Amino acid sequence: MSEFIKVAKITDIAEGKGMCVEVNDKKIGLFNLGGEIFAIDDICTHAHASLSEGDVSGDEITCPLHFASFNIRSGECTGPPADEDVATYPVRVMGDDIEIEI
Ligand code: FES
Repeated sequence: MSEFIKVAKITDIAEGKGMCVEVNDKKIGLFNLGGEIFAIDDICTHAHASLSEGDVSGDEITCPLHFASFNIRSGECTGPPADEDVATYPVRVMGDDIEIEI
């Protein structure tokens, strides 16, 4: 059964940045797009790289290893060499806390 779990504080992620959190042994990338928080799988679908260490441009994250790109809002893979989307997770902000449903 899924549940919302507190994973970070809203002040932990600057706008246009990402961070990795670990929930139930899963690495999740949190991203702040204009004050709105999104959660996607942190591990690139191409190989083993942490997407939260990549560069955010608009709604997209570029993988730091081989530069595949993904839409942070939808998880859609938007550029090679990856060809699979990343999973997304529902996010809610409760006061200062970021919670994700997983
Ligand atoms: S590991 Fe992300 S593009 Fe290769």
